[in-house]
Amino acid sequence: MNTPDSFPRRRSIRSFVVRAGRMGPGQVRAIEELAPRFVLPFQDRPLDTAAVFGRVAPVVFEIGFGMGDATAAIAEAMPDTDFIGVEVHTPGVGALLKKIGEKGLANVRIVQHDAVEVLEQMIAPGSLAGVHVFFPDPWHKKRHNKRRLIQEPFVGLLASRIAPGGTLHCATDWQPYAEQMLQVLSAQPLLANTAEGYSPKPGYRPLTKFENRGLKLGHGVWDLVFQRIGEVVCTVG
Ligand SMILES: C[S@@+](CC[C@H](N)C(=O)[O-])C[C@H]1O[C@@H](n2cnc3c(N)ncnc32)[C@H](O)[C@@H]1O
Repeated sequence: MNTPDSFPRRRSIRSFVVRAGRMGPGQVRAIEELAPRFVLPFQDRPLDTAAVFGRVAPVVFEIGFGMGDATAAIAEAMPDTDFIGVEVHTPGVGALLKKIGEKGLANVRIVQHDAVEVLEQMIAPGSLAGVHVFFPDPWHKKRHNKRRLIQEPFVGLLASRIAPGGTLHCATDWQPYAEQMLQVLSAQPLLANTAEGYSPKPGYRPLTKFENRGLKLGHGVWDLVFQRIGEVVCTVG
């Protein structure tokens, strides 16, 4: 299990700050009992997903699953798909492990590490059926905008890891970030928009409590669903 200090230092700007967080006894117990089976250590070579999941199935990669509500609901509804969820926040890892235990999910694995490095090192080019990036940190202040995940060159890396025909699904409740996402994703030659601009919310993405509250207050949510086109590329330039 990573602790904040165990993340190796990188020179580039990160999309997260590791916060201290309290964990409930259920989360602590879930980590003790379930992490050995469901948390994969970070490694600097591609993951053998067939060996990890014990089958060959489409793999969806989720960046920043938070407390794992959407991850667990989607994995439960899609038992024929395998899910790799990446999150740096330990209470979130505990929360998703708890749900994995409660729902008896066999199709989820977790990596507690910077998703940028996980994608670079552990995910082979053209290997993912999909990527979910739900409500990434919006980094509202102008001087923090550079920390946003959805920008070049990261989108180039993301696109390279998705199999042709696979999808990239982003959602945000912060309009300036939605506009940035639409601009950056539309400019990526390996991605094609499945909608004209923003997409209707795909049925598989559950409404979170937070999102529901925002919608009632008249706040917007923007989904973007892009499809990977072209051939598999083996290098990211
Ligand atoms: C605003 S929260 C949204 C959580 C969740 N997706 C949801 O919809 O409720 C963003 C999450 O992304 C995580 N995160 C940000 N950058 C990350 C990165 N590079 N690797 C892994 N997790 C990251 C943060 O720790 C945080 O939990």
